Amino acid sequence: MLDQVKIVTVIGSGQMGNGICHVFAQKGFKVHMMDINQTALDKALATIGKNMDRQVAKGGLTEADKAAALGNIVTYTDMATAIADADLVIEAATENVDLKLKIFKQLDELAPEKTILASNTSSISITKIAAATKRPAKVIGMHFMNPVPVMKLVEIINGYATDAAVSTLIHDLSVFIGKVPSVVNDYPGFIANRILMPMINEAIISLHEGVGGVNEIDTIMKLGMAHPMGPLQLADFIGLDTCMNILNVMYTGFGNPKYAPCPLLVNMVQAGYLGVKSGEGFYKYT
Ligand code: CAA
Repeated sequence: MLDQVKIVTVIGSGQMGNGICHVFAQKGFKVHMMDINQTALDKALATIGKNMDRQVAKGGLTEADKAAALGNIVTYTDMATAIADADLVIEAATENVDLKLKIFKQLDELAPEKTILASNTSSISITKIAAATKRPAKVIGMHFMNPVPVMKLVEIINGYATDAAVSTLIHDLSVFIGKVPSVVNDYPGFIANRILMPMINEAIISLHEGVGGVNEIDTIMKLGMAHPMGPLQLADFIGLDTCMNILNVMYTGFGNPKYAPCPLLVNMVQAGYLGVKSGEGFYKYT
């Protein structure tokens, strides 16, 4: 194991947070999973258990490995206790800039001086998040993809003031946990979403304009481009609110109308059609 990182605290136990806990626990790290209520933490532990069962069923993990991994995870509802001895904190809270700035200010006040603070943000400026702390050199983006236990990529984002040694450490750590890191600089949407979201938005615009139906658009992109999911199904999987928020970050960040979220996407989000998590988006999930 990398000497400098033994205890990893993950803030937020939702879809991304529990996936991040899963991979670190499986690689032998002590994982502190923190959320604001115990019900969310219990649900996250159950999800991790179920996802590990899929790995056991496929022969990728033994029952003993699973038990050891689950034994590496301790849950917390109090941030100060959760991060008291953390070497690395990975924030995976909701994609909301004010919330993230508030969390990073608290993390900076409560975490030991040595602690590296990473954000799993999918588009919010790492430089801005880092500026909410007194340790901007130790703040970095560590953007995992969903589902975290399956997807190989970690997009590492260096903020304006991120120390090169911190970037190297997070790169090496990502390799250690079995991921393939790609290091990029901090501009709106970074690389993953700067390229993915315009494709998803264009699929929604094509639907909105009546060029094709949901099935036609997704079939064309799945079978024509060998994508595992069509862009509309992927939007449902990511969450339509998240897609809209990311597009808005790029729209305002670049001041370029090409990133403006399609009015159909905005309407669906306002109506509560958020995709898989709400039970309906472009498809129904019942
Ligand atoms: N935990 C552990 N294992 C999981 C899992 C999970 N949550 N979800 C799926 N798996 C495993 C399955 O057990 C299966 O294992 P084997 O290969 O050993 O058989 C494998 O993953 C494939 O799963 P399934 O057979 O159930 O289904 P599938 O073949 O349709 O694959 C998928 C599912 C991996 C999600 C695939 O559809 C896919 O790759 N979709 C695209 C995902 C994607 O693009 N993610 C990035 C989204 S963007 C993002 O996250 C960042 C952002 O900022 C918005």
